Amino acid sequence: MTPEQVELIQNSFEKIKPIEAVAAKLFYERLFSIAPQVRHMFKADLTSQGMMLMQSLGAAVALLDNPERLILLLEGLGQRHKGYGVTEEHFAPVGQALLWTLEQGLGADFSGPTREAWTELFDTVQCFMLKGLQARA
Ligand code: HEM
Repeated sequence: MTPEQVELIQNSFEKIKPIEAVAAKLFYERLFSIAPQVRHMFKADLTSQGMMLMQSLGAAVALLDNPERLILLLEGLGQRHKGYGVTEEHFAPVGQALLWTLEQGLGADFSGPTREAWTELFDTVQCFMLKGLQARA
């Protein structure tokens, strides 16, 4: 990712932060409408769950300039997702719901380059989470 993309993500994340509870709710509603088959996996209260997702994306954003730590964190997160029953094909609807939510929350600020930067971030997060998820042990 380029430094400009990192900045676009950090700026848009600042704008989403004040509405993260609403964004989290929108995200799950969207996810369960496009992928109802994943609904049963979520046992925890969805508001706190949504905050966790936002926070871990926040952590990823904050760690973009510290790739070694970020990779370790994401591999660990991916490993835990194995225990939640998550598989590779679940990432596409999660990514779609995430981009849709950002679009709702950011409106006109979700410009072409911002969308591209988020798409790249999600692809990177997915790539390292899958390494953790697919590792033996
Ligand atoms: C960008 C990718 C993702 C991120 C950043 C993320 C983040 C998180 C975080 C931080 C937690 C809290 C528990 C923990 O830290 O282990 C969690 C739990 C969970 N995630 Fe994810 N996740 C991602 C992708 C997915 C995908 C693709 C699925 C599949 C539907 C999924 C399903 C779950 C489930 C079922 C739980 C446990 C919920 C519960 O116990 O109620 N996640 N996720």
